[in-house]
Amino acid sequence: MRLSITCLVIYMDKRIDPWGASDISDYDKLMREFGIEPFSNVIKSVPDVHKYMRRGIIYGHRDFSRIAQAMKNKAPFVMLTGLMPSGKMHLGHKMVADEMIYFQENGAHCYVCVADVEAYLTRGMDTKVMRELAINEYLLNYIALGLKPKKCRFYFQSDFSNEYNVISKYFSKKVTFNELKAIYGGESLTTGKIVSALTQVADILYPQIDMGKPTPTVVPVGTDQDPHLRLTRDIASRFKKEYNFILPSSTYHRYQKGLSGSKMSSSDPTTYIALTDSRKEVEGKVKRALTGGRDTLDEQKKLGGSPLKCTVFELYKFHFMDDDKELSKVFDECRSGNVMCGECKGRCIELIVGFLLKHQAKREKARKVLDKFLK
Ligand code: TRP
Repeated sequence: MRLSITCLVIYMDKRIDPWGASDISDYDKLMREFGIEPFSNVIKSVPDVHKYMRRGIIYGHRDFSRIAQAMKNKAPFVMLTGLMPSGKMHLGHKMVADEMIYFQENGAHCYVCVADVEAYLTRGMDTKVMRELAINEYLLNYIALGLKPKKCRFYFQSDFSNEYNVISKYFSKKVTFNELKAIYGGESLTTGKIVSALTQVADILYPQIDMGKPTPTVVPVGTDQDPHLRLTRDIASRFKKEYNFILPSSTYHRYQKGLSGSKMSSSDPTTYIALTDSRKEVEGKVKRALTGGRDTLDEQKKLGGSPLKCTVFELYKFHFMDDDKELSKVFDECRSGNVMCGECKGRCIELIVGFLLKHQAKREKARKVLDKFLK
């Protein structure tokens, strides 16, 4: 069932705010309320299942079977997502990059949008600073992680094609102010947010115009972006006559917890590991990270630890252990009290540092191919 905007008015007290601090605790309830399907419903039809899908990190979707189908049939499809260049690129951002690259490797035409208009309008960020960050921080890391220039458009909202800019304005014709208030909240809605939302709708739908025909599109995002997806799908269906858009599909990922147990945040370096961190920084951060350990070693040996509460386990699960069997071994060794936090952290540090050393070397090489993305 597609939830219409009118229907959402009823859920006004349970709004998700893409510009606010949304800390989601009950994903099941959220899915029921907003009509996000569990990813487990489609996983069987996905030809090359990513570890984020197997591990429930990508937990939900809208219309993903259309994308699975395109992947299977090697038919054209688009992957589009956006980034807000807010500071150093950390593991939370790496997750989105991993998803982009996964879709590219599975045949997607990639569109990567730097949301500099949105960041200027809603966060007052300096456009020059953002350009610098987007290229020398984000794009450089994306390339080092494996993003290829072929079938990839990396663009800034502030200087993309004319038609993209025009549709972002035209879309306002078929959405009312009350609908926007119902989706985004009447009290805090600003003109800048409205322009940002319609710009994002253009981000998501423009690739179909660029491709020259209606094309399945997947938008991998965190749950906080779902209001934009709902708006986009409504607008897409209202412009059927003019553009014959296929309603965009989306996937939703859970956020990795910050190292202190609260949200991972660009503004607090103790909560994240950046892709440019040194061994010393990694050691310091992981040693201080919140675990699921007990108060005393004796107790932990007897009762075991709680990997599900542990931010170090999340490091393994999200990034540094691809083999599921190995991961469940780490889980069991913790639960049974056979491996203590110190040892486990030591192992994790080595995995992270090993990854970062290689990554940082690739990052230096990536400078040579930056131009291929910036044409
Ligand atoms: N609003 C997104 C953010 O806050 C950035 C963004 C802009 C985006 N356009 C997009 C995300 C299109 C997904 C698709 O991070």
